[in-house]
Amino acid sequence: MKWKNTQIKRYVRLVIKSGGWKILLMFIFMILTSALNVIQPKILSYLIDKGIGGKSINILFIMTGSYILCNIIVRILNIRTNNYFETLKLVTATKLKKTLMEKLARAQGTYISGQGTGEILYILDNDIYQLESFGIEFFLELIMNVITAVVVFVILLRLNIEMLFLVGIIQILMIIFQKFMSVKITTAIRNVRDVIGELSNLQEQFVSNLKTVILSDVADFFLRIFNAEQQNYCEKSKKTNKFILYQREIIGFLQSFSLVASYLVGGIMIINARLTLGELIAFIQYVNMLIAPCVLIANSNIEIKQIEVALNRIYGELDRIDTIEDDKKKERIDKIDKISFENVSFRYSEKDVLKNINIEFEKNSITAIVGESGCGKSTILNILYGLWKPKSGNIYFNFWPYEKLNIKSVRNNITIVCQEPFLFNSSIIDNIKMGNEGNDQEKIDQVIKCVGLEMLIEEKEEENVGEKGNNLSGGQKQRVAIARALLRDSDVIVFDEATSNLDNLSQKEIMNNISSYFKDKIVIIIAHRLSTIKSADRIIVMHKGEIVESGTEDYLLSKNGFYKKLDNTDEGEKIC
Ligand SMILES: Nc1ncnc2c1ncn2[C@@H]1O[C@H](COP(=O)(O)OP(=O)(O)OP(=O)(O)O)[C@@H](O)[C@H]1O
Ligand SMILES: [Mg+2]
Repeated sequence: MKWKNTQIKRYVRLVIKSGGWKILLMFIFMILTSALNVIQPKILSYLIDKGIGGKSINILFIMTGSYILCNIIVRILNIRTNNYFETLKLVTATKLKKTLMEKLARAQGTYISGQGTGEILYILDNDIYQLESFGIEFFLELIMNVITAVVVFVILLRLNIEMLFLVGIIQILMIIFQKFMSVKITTAIRNVRDVIGELSNLQEQFVSNLKTVILSDVADFFLRIFNAEQQNYCEKSKKTNKFILYQREIIGFLQSFSLVASYLVGGIMIINARLTLGELIAFIQYVNMLIAPCVLIANSNIEIKQIEVALNRIYGELDRIDTIEDDKKKERIDKIDKISFENVSFRYSEKDVLKNINIEFEKNSITAIVGESGCGKSTILNILYGLWKPKSGNIYFNFWPYEKLNIKSVRNNITIVCQEPFLFNSSIIDNIKMGNEGNDQEKIDQVIKCVGLEMLIEEKEEENVGEKGNNLSGGQKQRVAIARALLRDSDVIVFDEATSNLDNLSQKEIMNNISSYFKDKIVIIIAHRLSTIKSADRIIVMHKGEIVESGTEDYLLSKNGFYKKLDNTDEGEKIC
């Protein structure tokens, strides 16, 4: 048992914090229960030898009454303690889940791009569930069992030393065997857990992208990998189960052997008048009392190992999540009028993705960012939203350096509309209202009209949009996202390929309709299709992580440079 293990210590601290002083009270109840349990065989021995043997009705009644009383108190205490610990388990598991979810919500880009969803889902489902079925009372029971074992051992020593010697040998054999098996079992369990994590990852990717997987005809490829991983899981599971079964059955045999050997030796002693029947029955009961704690102590290794694996994964993941902290001491910003990038450079790993970017975004102006795929447009947004920090250079909001500002207050003023918006499996209207609950109906209706969703909402009033909005078309999803963004009414609004799934006509119509919402705002539009950015006051052209040109469309066209080239390749589009 590794009490040194810091993750277990962390968990114990969390449980103690959640349970408070009541844990101590429950521990006292457990000691009381144990003491009452230890008394019972003694009462039984008196009942047999002095009551039955001594033919005393009085003693028979007194001992029976005492035995029943002890038993009732034990049951009541058990209900009380078990009920308390069950609730405590639930509370701590819920707390851990909450912490993990909250940390995920504050995750930085570094974590987001490196994390596997299946892994984290497995932790949220299985590992935390494992904690729910394993509580702090395990440790208390362990302490209790050690105490009980010592007390019972002393009683047995005084009852009959020869029989104890015989039982002792069997117990030692059991412990040696347990030790041997626990190493094997722990490794096997860890291996199974790792495979389950991988499997969850695959399942999650498959199920959540089912439509795309089928349409892209990669289902067979997926299933091949999945089946191989399943095979691996089955083999590792079988091996683990085999170890556990062998261990359980051999221990079971040693227990039975210990019992029958006690009857054999005890029987001979009774025949030789060296032991009374009451003493033998008490002895057997005490041996049982000794076996249970010994098995639990020996088995504790496996249980602790299992919980250790789960805790390592939970706390490991919690520690792995880099978060952006909502530092309350930092300056809060209520309104953003200007954003400046000053010599901002950035790289995700080795290669520079942004090189010396200098841009100013001002209110009441629409800035478009264009450039070939992979040139770093979305990366600018990621940095603006604080998902990643620049490797060098500075970003200012109204002249405040980013690092001096409270991130939550900055984000409250920025809305990003992505190409693939997030939709809940609820109604269209719920999806538009999401996060904008304070808006009145008139405003909501206005926004819906702007993005041309009135008819669809009427048609699908009772329907949900499906998981990830699968029951809507790409363009409809984007309309919902734009409506949601308009309702949010923040100072900065960014469209990253937000109208890419709309036809040219609808896009033009929506852009015209929503232009009244851009008053006093900083608007940034990223698009490949140049017709999307017609309304922009200024166009920034990027190439391989650098700004190569900027200005009005007329100016850029007259320059005959990068923009002109993009415009030529976009010619077909424009005619549409
Ligand atoms: N999380 C990430 N980790 C590592 N590299 C990344 C990550 N995200 C993007 N990149 C790389 O950074 C570069 C810029 O990506 P970015 O998403 O900013 O391009 P983009 O201009 O928005 O392209 P597109 O027009 O295709 O959306 C690309 O080469 C991309 O492969
Ligand atoms: Mg992009």
